[in-house]
Amino acid sequence: MTAPAIAISGLRKAFGSHTVIDRLDLTVAPGEIFALLGPNGAGKTTTINILTTLVRPDAGSARVGGFDVLTQPADVKRRISLTGQAAAVDDGLSATENLMMFARLAGMDRDAARRRSTELITHFGLADAATRRVRTFSGGMRRRLDLALSFVVTPEVLFLDEPTTGLDTRSRRELWEIIRSLAGAGTTVFLTTQYLEEADQLADRVAVLHDGRIAALGTAAELKARVRGDSVDLHDEHGELLRSIPTDGSVAGVRRALDQLDEQDARGVVSIRRPSLDDVFLAFTEPGAVTTGAAALDPAKEIA
Ligand SMILES: Nc1ncnc2c1ncn2[C@@H]1O[C@H](COP(=O)(O)OP(=O)(O)O)[C@@H](O)[C@H]1O
Ligand SMILES: [Mg+2]
Repeated sequence: MTAPAIAISGLRKAFGSHTVIDRLDLTVAPGEIFALLGPNGAGKTTTINILTTLVRPDAGSARVGGFDVLTQPADVKRRISLTGQAAAVDDGLSATENLMMFARLAGMDRDAARRRSTELITHFGLADAATRRVRTFSGGMRRRLDLALSFVVTPEVLFLDEPTTGLDTRSRRELWEIIRSLAGAGTTVFLTTQYLEEADQLADRVAVLHDGRIAALGTAAELKARVRGDSVDLHDEHGELLRSIPTDGSVAGVRRALDQLDEQDARGVVSIRRPSLDDVFLAFTEPGAVTTGAAALDPAKEIA
């Protein structure tokens, strides 16, 4: 058996009296795409910061690429790459120049650095702005350059903290493709996301982070099988749920569901409902454990 790419055991981290990570256990296999799913404040960034040696845990251990984050941080750092390095971007240089500089620092020769930079510029949709000073970039462009920088070298383990937050749909899909191809070439990808769909599209396995622990762990398909699926919902004018018909979400399925509605349903308003992050939390956390938002956001919950 090969050693895990990431091995977390009994990990704990508190800020003051606020325990953020609590006895966290997790193993990620080499070449796996692993998604840590959780809402704002769940502890995703804290977990990534511990794994990338930026934050010290209070208890427990974490190994990345076989090396301990506390006792062998330099070995860990050599094997990883992390997004959120925007601070390292030189505003006075162009996107290409920034990428070239990173590539040269990583030890590539001039030709290799230029090739890699050009590839990444294209991949991340920055071709039109390649020679413009980064100072003039929009927030979205900076985000894409930041991501591009983390792909300059192919690391053993790539950490992506909410990689697609702030990206438009097209850039998001392109990034998913890049992540898949990296994983296909053997890189382990550990990403965090607030989007069930993203975890579903990308990840081999998904962990649901709740109260600092893993509330559920499995393939996206396994998790979704335990969550209420798509439905065609009918609400009255007050937003009260009248009917909810399960569907697979396909055109034919939705049509069949609509066919089940009859004349007396005609006054209702139809919507298609997809499982949300809230549904995942409702499905995997104890009744009453979800104290914020979920119930209020989800009128269909009562009949689930
Ligand atoms: N350096 C810090 N000092 C104090 N509290 C922190 C610090 N970093 C994070 N936290 C708190 O820890 C919790 C988890 O934060 P974070 O790991 O950033 O969550 P996520 O990335 O899932 O949104 C939040 O309540 C946040 O306010
Ligand atoms: Mg975060």
